[in-house]
Amino acid sequence: MADAQPVPQGVDTGVPSPARIYDYLLAGDNNFAADRAAAEQIMKAVPEIRDAAWSNRGFHQRAAKWITQQGIHQFIDIGSGLPTVGNTHEVVQLVWPETHVVYVDNDPLVRAHSTTLLAGDGTTSVLLGDLRDPDGILGHPELRRLIDFTQPVGLLMTGVLMFVADESDPYGLVARYLRELAPGSYLSLSHLSADHKSPQAVQGFRAAFDTATEHMYFRPKAEVARFFDGLELVPPYQGAAPELCYTGVWGAEDPVAADTDGSRWLWCGVARRP
Ligand SMILES: C[S@@+](CC[C@H](N)C(=O)[O-])C[C@H]1O[C@@H](n2cnc3c(N)ncnc32)[C@H](O)[C@@H]1O
Repeated sequence: MADAQPVPQGVDTGVPSPARIYDYLLAGDNNFAADRAAAEQIMKAVPEIRDAAWSNRGFHQRAAKWITQQGIHQFIDIGSGLPTVGNTHEVVQLVWPETHVVYVDNDPLVRAHSTTLLAGDGTTSVLLGDLRDPDGILGHPELRRLIDFTQPVGLLMTGVLMFVADESDPYGLVARYLRELAPGSYLSLSHLSADHKSPQAVQGFRAAFDTATEHMYFRPKAEVARFFDGLELVPPYQGAAPELCYTGVWGAEDPVAADTDGSRWLWCGVARRP
């Protein structure tokens, strides 16, 4: 656990954060008592939450790998999370070793624990930045150094837009990032949803974030689909129609077996910017 380690400036260990709650759900050790208490609260309301977290992480990795296989060799990973098994650059550089990855997260602990997120050969970087500040992120000198905007980019926004309120215009923000990217770029996105869930489970889930650094906003499938407006969705697996699916199913060899209760908490999709 992180409790014994020095705490970076800007981190209040008494306030749970999405990055550290997610880290605990993924069996990581970069979390504090308040994060573990919030995660346990979610587990009471949603017993399958660990499966949901792993399912989302699996989607993140499969989608990033698939995008690299389409010839994309540079990624912006916004809301990247704390280092875990199979970080983005590790996954994509297995396909194409020189792939550039810029990680962005607004939790200072992500930047502080960035050692394992840096490939050590100048191909990766970690920025402390907020998704709601696209000019700050897109104009960051380190991002401009690693990302060539004349070439297509993989924009990864997995499990992060559910922390952006309607008042912050999440659709306008995604469109703003996409406008900057060359045609042929890809967006990979997943989002929590209360679709087909019991109100008690949703309420218990949401309540765990009431006192956290970010609040939680569930969105129905149609609202998640809106993030892909103007883009070309790709089929999530062989034989499927090009549409959103649950995270476990995307890229699954056996979509029936992958369709677990945990997976059904998040809609996801991958789409190409024409
Ligand atoms: C549930 S984790 C998802 C991590 C990773 N993308 C994945 O799917 O495995 C959400 C991450 O988004 C980050 N986050 C939340 N709101 C953010 C914002 N406004 N700007 C940047 N990062 C944010 C959190 O700190 C956390 O690391």
